[in-house]
Amino acid sequence: MASSEPVCEQTLDPGRLEPLLALSRAAGWNQNEADWRLMLELGRGWGLARPDGTLVASTLVLPYGGRFAWVSMVLVLPEERRRGHASRLLRRALSELQARRLTPILDATPAGRAVYAREGFRDTWGFARYALHAPRLAAAAIPGAEVRALADADWPAIMELDALAFGARRERLLRALALRLPAAALVAERAARIVGFLLGRDAREARQLGPLVSLAPEATPALLAGALARVSPPLFIDIADHAPALRARAEEHGFIFQRPFTRMVRGDDHAPGDPRIMMAVAGPELG
Ligand SMILES: CC(C)(COP(=O)(O)OP(=O)(O)OC[C@H]1O[C@@H](n2cnc3c(N)ncnc32)[C@H](O)[C@@H]1OP(=O)(O)O)[C@@H](O)C(=O)NCCC(=O)NCCS
Repeated sequence: MASSEPVCEQTLDPGRLEPLLALSRAAGWNQNEADWRLMLELGRGWGLARPDGTLVASTLVLPYGGRFAWVSMVLVLPEERRRGHASRLLRRALSELQARRLTPILDATPAGRAVYAREGFRDTWGFARYALHAPRLAAAAIPGAEVRALADADWPAIMELDALAFGARRERLLRALALRLPAAALVAERAARIVGFLLGRDAREARQLGPLVSLAPEATPALLAGALARVSPPLFIDIADHAPALRARAEEHGFIFQRPFTRMVRGDDHAPGDPRIMMAVAGPELG
C-alpha cells in the first residue's frame, strides 16, 4: 500500500545491516550482508526512514583513488517510488562529492538512468548482465593462455592491470573479493607474464563473476572457462558491450541476457580507465 508518511534522513549504519538487506531484497538485487558491509567499509551512505524506523531509500558513495567516486545502491522501496526520494539522496551524495572534489560516476539501470540524466549525468559505455542457471557446455581449456589460481605474488601485477582498466587503484576491494570467492580468483598467463585476471564473490541469488580484465584476446574466454570449471551456478557476469566475443562465448555456455546498464559520469566526457581491457565489471554497485 502506498504511504505518504514523512521520512527523515539518516547515515547508513554498518552495524545494522538487516534493513539494508531488506531494501536490496525488495528490489530483487543480488547483494548479501557481506556486500553491504564491504561497501560501507569502503565508503559511506545515507538513507530515508519512516517514523517507525523502516528504511525506504538508500544511496552510498565509494571514493576511488582520490579522483572519482562511485555512486551506488540508489534504491527506493517499490511503494515509495516517484516521490523524489532517489533524487533527494542523490543530491545529498553529490554535494558530498563536490565538497571533496570527486567526480561522480555510476552504473545505471534503465529506471535509474532517468533520475541521473536529470542531475546532469551523461552516458559513456554500457554493459549487460548475463545469468547462468544450467550450463550447456563443459568448460574446456583455451589454447594459448594458461589459467591458474591467483597467488600472493600476483597482486602487484593484478593491481597494475586493474588500475589501467578501471582508472584507480582499488586494492582493498580486490583483496576482499579474492577472499569472498577464492575459486574464481584466477590469473591468465602468457610466456610467464600475467595478461589477465578474474575475481568473483558470493552473493544472495547467484555468485557474481567480475571484474575480468584482459590484455590478450585468448585470456578472456580462458578466464571464463577457468571459472566455469571451478565455480558452480547460479552465476552472474556483467559483460561490457565492447566485448562481443566474451558475450558470444558466455551465451555458448548457456548464459542468458538479463538487463542492460549504462556507465554515466557527471562533469566529465569519459569514464576513467581503459574500457578496451575491462571485459566484465565488478558489478554496477562497485564499478
Ligand atoms: C530508480 C529508482 C531509484 C528511482 O527512485 P524514485 O525515488 O522513484 O525517483 P524520483 O522520485 O527521485 O524520480 C525523479 C525523476 O526521475 C524520473 N524517473 C524516476 N523513476 C523513473 C522510471 N521508473 N521511469 C522513468 N523515469 C523515472 C522521473 O522524471 C522522476 O520525476 P517525476 O516522478 O516527477 O516524473 C527506483 O525506481 C528504484 O529503486 N528502482 C529499482 C532499483 C534501481 O533500478 N535503482 C537505480 C540503480 S542505478
